[in-house]
Amino acid sequence: MSPLIKIKDVRHAYETASGPLPVLDGLDVTVQEGGFCAVVGPSGCGKSTLTRLVAGLMHPDAGEVWLHGDLVKAPRSTVGMAFQNPVLLEWRTILQNVTLPLEIVPDGLKGAAAKERARYLLSLVGLDGFEDKRPSELSGGMRQRASLCRALVHQPEVLILDEPFGALDAFTREDLWQTMHQVKESEPFTAVLITHDLREALFLGDQVVVLSGRPARTQYVMDIPQTTRPTLDDLYTAEAAERLATLRHQIEIAQGRAAPEEAS
Ligand SMILES: Nc1ncnc2c1ncn2[C@@H]1O[C@H](COP(=O)(O)OP(=O)(O)O)[C@@H](O)[C@H]1O
Ligand SMILES: [Mg+2]
Repeated sequence: MSPLIKIKDVRHAYETASGPLPVLDGLDVTVQEGGFCAVVGPSGCGKSTLTRLVAGLMHPDAGEVWLHGDLVKAPRSTVGMAFQNPVLLEWRTILQNVTLPLEIVPDGLKGAAAKERARYLLSLVGLDGFEDKRPSELSGGMRQRASLCRALVHQPEVLILDEPFGALDAFTREDLWQTMHQVKESEPFTAVLITHDLREALFLGDQVVVLSGRPARTQYVMDIPQTTRPTLDDLYTAEAAERLATLRHQIEIAQGRAAPEEAS
């Protein structure tokens, strides 16, 4: 396996009315091809900024972002994104929402092939039968499933998930975690997941990156051995409890509530 995403010593400050606001200062993240990188860190530390860098939606002041051996300099159509708010278009059916990116990306599937691809993804996430519904006819969890299909429809190399499950209730969220694992078995993407939920990071990630408080640097990286089709019970083993405690402690350090010396 080779690194698909490489973020090297990235620094960035936003220009604001009250002067420059440094958001990233020494960000290093490497994600292997087919890997699943979960990123956690204090609110406002620069996590969404990281996703914009990977998508090529912004340029860092310093440092480099590489995707598949290419320096990222412009927005990429080989990236799919899903957010906390699924923003589906109400005047389109679920199927038409999912096929939307294919109308935009160059060389996207068209016509019957586009619909077939969308139907396949919708069935993969358990939404068969909902193709012709409108977004408002679906529950929050179902809308998020549809949003995931839309992010994947053009077979992106990289799937960016920015707190996609954050607004869902705990049971719906856990259902979606399991769906993510199923989708991952059939779709060959490399994922970056931003989350506030340490259990989610542990369940989905094969790597968890903890960012420091703003300006964010890579504070801690945990590698997680992934089993195929983990179950929720795996989150309640002694090993998982130990990992969660370590991550929680790292977050406390990032928030300035624990001293770094205490870290082991
Ligand atoms: N375009 C922008 N211009 C100025 N400040 C911004 C801009 N985007 C984000 N910020 C600020 O940068 C910081 C990091 O933002 P963000 O990456 O969205 O954090 P996170 O996703 O970790 O909560 C926040 O303080 C935010 O207010
Ligand atoms: Mg954010």
